[in-house]
Amino acid sequence: MVNDLKLFNELVELLLQEEERQPVAIPIDTDKLYQTLDLQLHDEPALDADFKKTLSQLIISTPKTASTSFFNQLFGGRLNRATLGDLLAVMLNNSMYTYKVAGAQVGIEKTILYRICEMIGYGSESDGTFAPGGSMSNFMAMLMARDKFDASIRNEGVHGTMTIYTSEASHYSISKNASFMGIGREQVRLIKTNDFGEMLADDLELQIKGDLSKSNHPFFVNATAGTTVLGTFDDIESISNVCKTYNLWLHVDGAYCGSVIFSNKYKHLVKGLQLTDSFSLNAHKMLGTPLTCSIIVTQDKKYLSQSFSNDAEYLYQTDDDAFNLGKTSLQCGRRNDALKLWTLWKSVGNKGLQAIVDKQFELANVARHYIKNHSDYTLYSFDDSISVCFNYKNIPPKTLCTLLYEQSELMVGFGTHRHNEFVRLVTINTSIDEEHILNFFRTIESFVERTDSI
Ligand SMILES: Cc1ncc(COP(=O)(O)O)c(C=O)c1O
Repeated sequence: MVNDLKLFNELVELLLQEEERQPVAIPIDTDKLYQTLDLQLHDEPALDADFKKTLSQLIISTPKTASTSFFNQLFGGRLNRATLGDLLAVMLNNSMYTYKVAGAQVGIEKTILYRICEMIGYGSESDGTFAPGGSMSNFMAMLMARDKFDASIRNEGVHGTMTIYTSEASHYSISKNASFMGIGREQVRLIKTNDFGEMLADDLELQIKGDLSKSNHPFFVNATAGTTVLGTFDDIESISNVCKTYNLWLHVDGAYCGSVIFSNKYKHLVKGLQLTDSFSLNAHKMLGTPLTCSIIVTQDKKYLSQSFSNDAEYLYQTDDDAFNLGKTSLQCGRRNDALKLWTLWKSVGNKGLQAIVDKQFELANVARHYIKNHSDYTLYSFDDSISVCFNYKNIPPKTLCTLLYEQSELMVGFGTHRHNEFVRLVTINTSIDEEHILNFFRTIESFVERTDSI
């Protein structure tokens, strides 16, 4: 182990140097990948020197998500105390299903869940779990809602046409999950949004009434705290009113921006969370923990065990269900995703988490300010969003983003809203400061200036 820890340290040193030297790794064409790197697996063991060389090359050519040029996805950066927690979780290698096997780590997970339920105003019956990502947290919410609507479905399967409501700007996992659940993608109603990308409660009600008139069974509404492209927050209170009228489960998908609950300045964006049935957030997005760290909580823990508990004599041999977390989780064996959030939270406190969240909004303000003050840019997104969507000199965003990536200048993606295609700059990367935002724009400008093919 000692030698491998030494090797690990050397490789991490290399990674940190590379993040500075070549913040956007030189991409390898897919058709050259297997010729460029020694990825093949053989009968004979690799020699130590070759092994180290291959790992070094792999590190050099892997995209650098913690570099200050990474704006491509809804995560990025590296917070040391969170990374420390995740490294410890790997070394400890517990599985979270039982107290017997995970011990005190169960307390870590339960503490986080308890605090989050408390912060959002859920009552004493609330609880939650960690899921392998935001899509799966949404899946768990949908399953709980399905089984609340009709508990017999767990044994008999779905009968009748059950219908789901989510905005046209919401994440694709809602439709994907509908297919997993046997409900069917065609039973997902995509509710219209206003110009800001917020779900329209009037259209929601109209669609529910339409389904009821056909004897369909509405059961689940998904609202979003931070839509994937524009970073918009749905109005939870107006959507909750509709849900209460028709007795529907209301879930808030806060995978992207649900972590605003940690900010006194921005938690008003999720006003009304206490009225919902379930809420999820990805700490690996706004809170900057390593992937994955997704949390789902629900007002009434009985729905967690109704949908996810299963007897297993070989597994549950000690302690009560409250400490055997496998009774409320999607998986059987489950990685310890809680420790990295706990080490971060413990070391920076609530105040530190608030600062992490607030900074992302401040950086988005810097970016929007820059765009508004430079006439070659067109802005497509709005205040209170950490997705800053824009175009530069009317250059097709796909062309611009692809060339920036291929030529190792910047990692940034593009998106669409209302038939407009634009570059989506996300200010979620915890490594970036104001100077990196300004550098982002200057890089684009000088790149366009010297690139004839644009
Ligand atoms: C709003 C929203 N929900 C869910 C997800 C899915 O999260 P994950 O990638 O962790 O499955 C995303 C991912 O970007 C998202 O933006």
